[in-house]
Amino acid sequence: MASHSHPLSNAPAPIDFDSIKNLTANEAKAVDQLIIDELRSDVVLINQMGHYIVGSGGKRLRPMLLLLAAKALGEASHKHLILAAVIEFIHTATLLHDDVVDDSDLRRGKESANAVWGNAASVLVGDYLYSSAFEMMVRTGNMRVMEILSKTTTAIAEGEVLQLLNCNNPETTEDKYLEVIARKTAILFSAATRLSAVIAEASSETEEGLARYGQHLGIAFQLIDDALDYKATKEELGKNLGDDLAEGKPTLPLIYAIQNGNKNEADIIIDAIKNGNRDAFNEVYAVVQSTQAIAYTEQRAEEEAQNAIDALSVLPDSEYKDALTQLARFSVQRNY
Ligand code: IPE
Ligand code: IPE
Ligand code: MG
Ligand code: MG
Repeated sequence: MASHSHPLSNAPAPIDFDSIKNLTANEAKAVDQLIIDELRSDVVLINQMGHYIVGSGGKRLRPMLLLLAAKALGEASHKHLILAAVIEFIHTATLLHDDVVDDSDLRRGKESANAVWGNAASVLVGDYLYSSAFEMMVRTGNMRVMEILSKTTTAIAEGEVLQLLNCNNPETTEDKYLEVIARKTAILFSAATRLSAVIAEASSETEEGLARYGQHLGIAFQLIDDALDYKATKEELGKNLGDDLAEGKPTLPLIYAIQNGNKNEADIIIDAIKNGNRDAFNEVYAVVQSTQAIAYTEQRAEEEAQNAIDALSVLPDSEYKDALTQLARFSVQRNY
């Protein structure tokens, strides 16, 4: 029986990420070249670390969204390519910083930069990437672009600090958690798709629709990231599981488990958040399972992905719009 027409399965069709990627393959290659050119510095460590993290791959999802949105609106111009590189640079800078803050030693299937070169080097090279991103951004000569990106990086920093304040606090609510992920993750997705519209000189309705798409998609993406920290496999994810637990991060799977478990179950989670203890992983995982906290988190992500897809109604029909729809679904179905 052909797998695409299995009559008994309700499971959604798997997303063909590679064929979506192919739609912007040429532009993505040009973006990669811009990134590599930009990493050229006469400070050897910047070269080394920059190439190490950028060369380890990553899904390149944010530039892909920007490029697909550009093509859905017409064509991907040189300014679109520059901004796709800028967005990936900012993303990479946040990863360098994030792995220091989270004390993570595996990233993109390799030892994290902080594990190889130490925290100081990661923080400083992360700063370099941020600054380079701003240097590149200025080349667009567009004031709105600069306004959007500077507001975006400010909001990301706020999200990271808010998250730090929530760490080890088991009273963190779902709303507070959502506020953190809206800033630390979703705003960069939203900036990516909004910038596409700005450069294409699209109507403000189109710009707002694309920004909403990015924001909802980003929330869905981080909800799933937080579920994967409990349920993925290390090999597929390229990151260690349980890093959130080790930091006492009150992510939605834990918040929901506290609210829906019995007293004993809730206490297990509360203690784990307070103590930030990786050794409690199996015990915590059992409660997360029995309270169906992962299923709830996935369902919330599904809703956000649907909101993202609805926001695409500002775009004319095209294969690029279809790809954006598929990427919203991918963000929920992914296991890496
Ligand atoms: C990881 O982002 C950080 C989050 C916002 C969850 P990605 O999962 O997009 O990381 P790469 O670029 O593919 O490695
Ligand atoms: C996303 O949060 C971090 C940023 C937005 C920089 P996580 O801490 O969950 O990301 P991973 O899991 O380390 O990639
Ligand atoms: Mg992290
Ligand atoms: Mg994570």
